[in-house]
Amino acid sequence: MKNKQVTILLFGFLISSWENTLAIEPVSVTKTFVSSQALFANPERGWITHRFSNDLYGINSLRNSAEKLSLVLIKIDISAYKNSSHIGQTKLNEIRTALNSCRQQGLKVIMRSAYAWDSVLAPEPKNIETVKTHIMDMKPIYYEYEDIIIAVEMGMFGPWGEMHSSYFSTTNTQFYYPIKTTALIQVHATYMDALPITRSVLVRTPYYIRQVFSSDKPIEPIEASNNTAKARTGYHNDAYLASSDDAGTFSYGWSRAKELAYINQMTRYAFFGGESFGTPNSKYNNAQNAMLESRQQHMTYLHRDYYTPIYNAWGTSVKEDFTRKLGYRFELKTLSYSKEVAPGGLLAFSLKVQNTGFSAMHLTRPVVLILDNGKTGTARIRYQTILTVDPRSWIPEVNSTSIDRKLRIPANIIQGVWQLLLTLPDSNTRLQSDVRYTVQFANENIWNTDGTLVLTNDISITSSAQGSRTTDNIFQEI
Ligand SMILES: *[C@@H]1O[C@H](CO)[C@@H](O)[C@H](O)[C@H]1NC(C)=O
Ligand SMILES: *[C@@H]1O[C@H](CO)[C@@H](O)[C@H](O)[C@H]1NC(C)=O
Ligand SMILES: *[C@@H]1O[C@H](CO)[C@@H](O)[C@H](O)[C@H]1NC(C)=O
Repeated sequence: MKNKQVTILLFGFLISSWENTLAIEPVSVTKTFVSSQALFANPERGWITHRFSNDLYGINSLRNSAEKLSLVLIKIDISAYKNSSHIGQTKLNEIRTALNSCRQQGLKVIMRSAYAWDSVLAPEPKNIETVKTHIMDMKPIYYEYEDIIIAVEMGMFGPWGEMHSSYFSTTNTQFYYPIKTTALIQVHATYMDALPITRSVLVRTPYYIRQVFSSDKPIEPIEASNNTAKARTGYHNDAYLASSDDAGTFSYGWSRAKELAYINQMTRYAFFGGESFGTPNSKYNNAQNAMLESRQQHMTYLHRDYYTPIYNAWGTSVKEDFTRKLGYRFELKTLSYSKEVAPGGLLAFSLKVQNTGFSAMHLTRPVVLILDNGKTGTARIRYQTILTVDPRSWIPEVNSTSIDRKLRIPANIIQGVWQLLLTLPDSNTRLQSDVRYTVQFANENIWNTDGTLVLTNDISITSSAQGSRTTDNIFQEI
């Protein structure tokens, strides 16, 4: 019995290698996609607006606004708990209600908590342990809403959570002093504990990040995977392009050029966003420099409602360019594929994708390839497979990324003309079937309302096609 099995296995192996060596694979054809300048909302990027957790006015019209918002910064006022060991259930439930509303509206969020939302000196509890407990009080929420919370701004310290003028500042009897390194390190570590491993905390200045990690070096590529603490630490700037040091953002002995080089490296892997500040059309916030530095700093989100005179000075065309380019913007360039394949045969597949946005995608998601018979209702047949590719690697620094694969076509597939579709749904199962969380591409005539992109609709599956074949009834990369 045993010997017989070995013989059958060996025989099968010989046949398949014989087929593979002698078969001439079908020739590939190449099609070119047409790019689109359309403005549309895409997940985890773009213009952002701010709302308090108890007042989400107008959020049902954000996605369809001129600026196509898909992100909201949720501000959490915890001033009432300054003297309490824990944040009250009333506040925690208010936050949950706010996040539920965002989810219903197809939005994602960034959160920031603070003990004062106006100019109050040193508004925090006097014991850092209380601040840390308050962060941990929100930990269950960070998990319950992991699907829509893309990152958390550190906040907690000082008025507006802007991380100055705090009880934990180096000088705490006057405004604008920075936070002590010991306090920074503790609160950062607490966030690393409170947030899901794939989520990051965004810190107000690059100087603070250097203090937390006790290093002048930005994240290295090797540290960018495995969800290291450095990979989970991003940056936000609420005085974006205000002045040579962005109103104190850079004022710790580093020149603007040196800071921008540090930020450029860090934000290849970590989120960067904020709000603009200063006199419109000035040296740094003018349209030309804003475009240049937003690309250099890999900007993912920008506050739409502040400071609007700066954006108005840019003019409609530059504003629209920001609507397109904040974060990632993917465009299909070309597809080379076998036009004829046999059931059980191999489909050659080579797709070129370009990221014309300012930044990489920072949260990963599946890249799904679908073979579809183009029918509707019960007659529809779909085979799908997840490609071994991480869309975070489609970075703006390269003109295009090529995905070259060979795909096994199921042996039992019905012969005929098939479509090849691509889709990038959310990585969280809760949102996977919600098209509002699926990535749209900047191409004409490829987007289906179910969130799939039509790569081609003319693959002929016929037993008369050239090439090797197996009896495996699978659709997957080999
Ligand atoms: C906290 O305690 C201080 C000192 O007793 C008091 O002035 C302040 O009003 C209290 N704040 C809150 C929000 O309870
Ligand atoms: C981290 O990820 C890299 C891939 O970039 C891998 O080679 C390495 O083994 C990982 N390190 C650890 C400690 O898991
Ligand atoms: C990218 O494209 C531009 C213009 O289309 C070209 O000048 C440049 O050399 C290309 N860069 C690379 C790395 O191919």
